[in-house]
Amino acid sequence: MQELPTLSIAPMQDVSVLPLWRCLERRGGPDLYVTEYFRVHRDSIPEKKILRTIHGMSDRKPVVAQMIGNDPEYLVRTAQQIEAQSDCIGIDVNLGCPAPKVCGKQAGGALLKNPELIRRIACDLREVVKGRLTLKTRIGFESPDEFDDLLELFASLPIEGLAIHGRTVMERYQSPVHTDCIARAVSMLPYPVTANGNIVSTATAVAMQQQTGAAGLMIGRGGIRNPWLFSLVRDALSGQVTRRPTLRDLQSYLIELAEEIAAEAAVESNTKLVHRMKKFANYISSGINGGIFHNQLRRANSMEEFHSICQEHLSSDEPMPEDPLEDGKLFCGFGELINESATI
Ligand SMILES: Cc1cc2nc3c(=O)[nH]c(=O)nc-3n(C[C@H](O)[C@H](O)[C@H](O)COP(=O)(O)O)c2cc1C
Repeated sequence: MQELPTLSIAPMQDVSVLPLWRCLERRGGPDLYVTEYFRVHRDSIPEKKILRTIHGMSDRKPVVAQMIGNDPEYLVRTAQQIEAQSDCIGIDVNLGCPAPKVCGKQAGGALLKNPELIRRIACDLREVVKGRLTLKTRIGFESPDEFDDLLELFASLPIEGLAIHGRTVMERYQSPVHTDCIARAVSMLPYPVTANGNIVSTATAVAMQQQTGAAGLMIGRGGIRNPWLFSLVRDALSGQVTRRPTLRDLQSYLIELAEEIAAEAAVESNTKLVHRMKKFANYISSGINGGIFHNQLRRANSMEEFHSICQEHLSSDEPMPEDPLEDGKLFCGFGELINESATI
């Protein structure tokens, strides 16, 4: 029988955090967790919050730590510190973040314009990283035409894997995903390639797997929206049919997620909690009741209000919608704001 692809949860700043990971894990969860990025600059030290996230999961499932930065010396120092202070199984470097403040500092997606710096970063890190060294990229900065040159570069780097978000940096988060580029990478690169971008259902996961042949599938927003997705995809890829989660299941997940977030020392007040929950709810509410649920949640001012809106829209045994569609588009309405304020 063909081996199943490795399923991972994508790194997502402020949302792919331990409370979410715990909710995912109780529902089967991914095979691999990737942290949000550690910011790396001259004076940085590894963020304690992300180290705690690694500690909270690494005894159950493998965790990879992601870093963002552009100076090989500081990246080397930080990778050593992260490996010394956690049980992560590897280090990943972000080559895809499109946030203006990040790209303005020549980090994240802007590194794709500087192949020689990518080479130095990978070679210097390879000298010190004890675990797996991987990169997470997009298919170019401005145009998919850049991808062939990037592929030649990636093929020559001393890394153990490459995750590809199949869009350019300029395409940000909503355009169609260039699966043909990912398929080319799979056939050309001497190490496993992970496909990423708009996997939101079993159908989109199976299509991505068939179109690219990737060794891994990385799921971001779709995993926040549907925490059962990893198990559902595993079942679909091995030919099993499983019960679709209901709206009531979704409501239980939201209650559990709020409890997990409240249990974090940093979130003590009701106002802070509702603010944090809205970040997740953005992804969870899309596709339900034609946007009404989404708009109501955005206006909630307290957790009591948040839960009563959920009760109104989710207390039903209807299956949750398969795709997060609004106006026929995935994740319409909020994709453009993602990462806008991210910094390094
Ligand atoms: C809120 C948010 C934060 C993100 N933060 C990161 C990050 O820290 N590092 C990274 O490599 N990508 C980050 N991404 C990009 C995702 O890892 C992923 O590549 C992208 O969302 C496409 O996958 P998806 O369609 O499955 O969500 C972020 C995406 C979102 C939505």
